[in-house]
Amino acid sequence: MTTVDLPLLPLGRGADPLSERGVECPGDLPPASDPALVARARAAKDALGERVFVLGHHYQRDEVIAFADVTGDSFKLAREAAARPQAEYIVFCGVHFMAESADILTTPEQQVVLPDLAAGCSMADMARLAQVEDAWDALADAGVVDSVVPVTYMNSSADIKAFCGRNGGVVCTSSNAEVALEWAFEQKPDAKVLFFPDQHLGRNTAVLQLGLSLDDCVVWNPLRPHGGLTPEQLRAAKMILWQGHCSVHGRFSPDVVDELRASVPGINILVHPECRHEVVTKADLVGSTEFIIKTIEAAPAGSSWAIGTELNLVKRLADAHPDKQIVFLDKTVCYCSTMNRIDLPHLVWALESLAQGTVVNRIEVDPETQRWALVALERMLALPGR
Ligand code: 13P
Ligand code: SF4
Repeated sequence: MTTVDLPLLPLGRGADPLSERGVECPGDLPPASDPALVARARAAKDALGERVFVLGHHYQRDEVIAFADVTGDSFKLAREAAARPQAEYIVFCGVHFMAESADILTTPEQQVVLPDLAAGCSMADMARLAQVEDAWDALADAGVVDSVVPVTYMNSSADIKAFCGRNGGVVCTSSNAEVALEWAFEQKPDAKVLFFPDQHLGRNTAVLQLGLSLDDCVVWNPLRPHGGLTPEQLRAAKMILWQGHCSVHGRFSPDVVDELRASVPGINILVHPECRHEVVTKADLVGSTEFIIKTIEAAPAGSSWAIGTELNLVKRLADAHPDKQIVFLDKTVCYCSTMNRIDLPHLVWALESLAQGTVVNRIEVDPETQRWALVALERMLALPGR
């Protein structure tokens, strides 16, 4: 996460994340100062033609989004990857767990490339397979495991998705968490959901969309014995929320919502469900990145919006809609530092390497993990609606 103090101001053109990066380009990477980077990316992409398909998550930098064949939230990108069997190479401009999902959903002949292997996700790292297995054993000790359905957010490693596949669970994204939870609660009489890694998406969906109460939810702390919970608490709970969060969305605060409402009459607060419950309950609208984009596109000229999601996307929306007043719902600049790892030099390096016949930074999930993760992902893709 990159933070720079900044007054809460409408966003405009000009603040370029490239200029803040200051990253040395090691090894074969072209320097960020190379004026030919755009032309080089274009030439390598043209040379590869239909053999390459570039996916770009909405949180990517503008310089990368410019080369994406399709942009989307993690749900849309998973579907797009699965729908391109003719592309030999999928270049995933996003983070590691998304590239893993693309590898699972594509054919064995297709190769998925992540332009910078350091593009991980701190939230995904908050749930490790060994910890989840320990939690499962503790749920067995408490006598409740037979009624537990595991649901993992897309933002998790492939082995966690495989755990869900093996144990009758499902993957969800911020686009379909409501239907995924409804599905989970229908799987068993008196079902409980073990939801990981994002406690906020789990809580917000359970309480605001399914109508559960906050008292139905308990938080499992993987660093404490038995998650820090008693068997009685586990027996009473309907949602067992993993104590994980997004360091970017966790920054938005209810105080800023109050300040904005006081200073900008009629402002609409639009946030991602990874934000804390006390922020989401104060917002007017909540939804995935794809929902946020569609909402702003459909908004009338002259309307005012404060958006609580990653800054690359909010800046792009502000630039694309100069007829609407769009501000970032925080007083500091806050990019997702791992999403920002993918920059134009890394994209050029990946595309030129592929054009020269060398596959760099391939993301490959082992067959056994792939098999079970696919079960959980296909259950998600089969859920009704979006
Ligand atoms: P969506 O793409 O599902 O909106 O998720 C946001 C996110 O944090 C991705 O890392
Ligand atoms: Fe992970 Fe949050 Fe960054 Fe998304 S925005 S990749 S959840 S750290």
